Amino acid sequence: GAPVEVDISTIAPGEMRTVEWRGKPVWVIHRTKEQLGTLKQNDPDLADPDSNRPGVTPPYAKNEWRSRKPDIFVTVGICTHLGCSPTPKFQTGPQPSLPNNWDGGFLCPCHGSTFDMAGRVYKNKPAPDNLEVPPYQYLSDTKIIIG
Ligand code: FES
Repeated sequence: GAPVEVDISTIAPGEMRTVEWRGKPVWVIHRTKEQLGTLKQNDPDLADPDSNRPGVTPPYAKNEWRSRKPDIFVTVGICTHLGCSPTPKFQTGPQPSLPNNWDGGFLCPCHGSTFDMAGRVYKNKPAPDNLEVPPYQYLSDTKIIIG
């Protein structure tokens, strides 16, 4: 499939856009400072907080944000368990309606895997891996290309 360009200047903080790349949904999420601020505290509860498992995290996303630049997160919107599409559940703080003090990210409706705002899967969930970060790069400060 052809690479896909995305104008990220039109994605407001706290919002996401879904684009199709090679027949897969790719999410481009503009994370707020609050959302970025929750990441570090999640580490002890995650299956692979440093994204060391092979295959889903390119070298440029092996950092605490899993992205080239902190605010913009690019990920394939397909659960690494059996391929359902997780539901965004963005929060800016712990919410009693979310399980286990989970402060939001993505919830897979099929078997309950939860992922944080960097697509990192929580421990003891059926999904074996973090969400996949696809190949992408910045063409300018406001434009990325996926693929
Ligand atoms: Fe997502 Fe099973 S497909 S938890």
